[in-house]
Amino acid sequence: MISRRMFAKGAIKGALALASVPVFARAAAAPRPFFIDSDTASDDAVALILAFAEPGIDIVGIGTVAGNVPLDSATQTALYVRELCRSKAPIHVGADRPLTRDLETAQDVHGKDGMGDVGLPIGGRKPDSEDAVGALIEAARRHAGKLELVTLGPLTNIAVALRRAPEIVKQIKSCTVMGGVSDYVGNITPVSEFNIWVDPEAAEITLRSGLAIDMVGWDISRKYAVIDDNDAASLRAIGTERAKVAVDCQKVLRAFNERVSGLKGFDLPDPIAMAIALRPSIGTRRRQDHASVLGGEGPTRGMVMFDESPIGPKGAQIGVVEEASRDGFMAMMREALAR
Ligand code: RIB
Ligand code: CA
Repeated sequence: MISRRMFAKGAIKGALALASVPVFARAAAAPRPFFIDSDTASDDAVALILAFAEPGIDIVGIGTVAGNVPLDSATQTALYVRELCRSKAPIHVGADRPLTRDLETAQDVHGKDGMGDVGLPIGGRKPDSEDAVGALIEAARRHAGKLELVTLGPLTNIAVALRRAPEIVKQIKSCTVMGGVSDYVGNITPVSEFNIWVDPEAAEITLRSGLAIDMVGWDISRKYAVIDDNDAASLRAIGTERAKVAVDCQKVLRAFNERVSGLKGFDLPDPIAMAIALRPSIGTRRRQDHASVLGGEGPTRGMVMFDESPIGPKGAQIGVVEEASRDGFMAMMREALAR
C-alpha cells in the first residue's frame, strides 16, 4: 500500500520531470481543419496543390460546385488532382447550378475540360459523397470554432448550407472568399468578377451572413499572381508531375488572357487566395468594409458594392484584401510544386 507521503513525493517528481521537457516537445500543435469549396478548373487545381502540400493543415473536406465547368467536370478534376497529390481528403459533390439562375460556365477561359484541353487523364473516379452541403455543415459542427473555409467558386453551396444550418456562422472560424474585385475592375463585366457573377444571390447571402470573411478579389490575381512565360518555364522546370500539370493546364487561360484580358501570361486567382488563407501574412494590406452584391442583369450583375457611407442600413462587415506579397506567394508555389 503506497503511503500518502510516498504518493506526494512521486507526484512532485513527475511534475518536475514534465517541467523539464520543452513546451514544443510536449504536444505538436493540432493541425488546422480546412474545408475547400471549388468549381475545379485550371487555377483551382493549383490552389488544391498548394493546400495538399501545406504542412500543419487537415483538409477535412472538399466540396465541388458548378461554375468554371459543369459540376461533373469540376468533381472529376478535383478527384484527379487529389490522386496526383496522393491526398486522401474526402471530396463531396455539391450544386450543379446557381440558386435561381441557369449555369453559365467559363470554358472559353479554361478550356472545355477546364484544364487547358491538353488531354490530362481526368474522369472515371468516384467522389466520397453527393452531399457537399451536408459535409460542410458536419465539418463546421465537428470542428466548431476552428474550421477554416476557403471558397474558390460560386457561393451556391455556402448559401444553401447557411440556409439549412445558420449556426455554422458561429462555428466557422474564417472564410476566405476568392471573389469580387476591391477596385471595381471586373473580369466578366466591367465591375464584376466571375464567381460572384455566376450566382449573385448566393454571394449576397454569404457576404451578409456574418461569416468572418476575408475577400480576395480578382484584383489581387491581376496585380500579384500573373505568371509570364519565363516564370511558367521556371515553375515547370521544377520537373515534378504536379509542376508540369500546374503549368500545362493553363494553356487556354494564357491564350484567353493574351486575346482578351491583356495580362501577360496566365493568372492564378484561386492559388493566391488559397495562399492567403493558408498563410494570412501573404495578404499584406486589408480594409474592413460593408459589402452588398447587386443582382439583376447587365453590367452591374454580380458587382460587390462597398459601402463606406454613414447613411442607411448596413449589412455585415467583411475583410477585403488590398495588397499581397508576390514573393511570398511565388515561394509557396515553388515549395508546393516541388513536393
Ligand atoms: O474570377 C476568377 C474566379 O473564377 C476563379 O475562381 C476561377 O477559377 C473562376 O472560378
Ligand atoms: Ca475557381
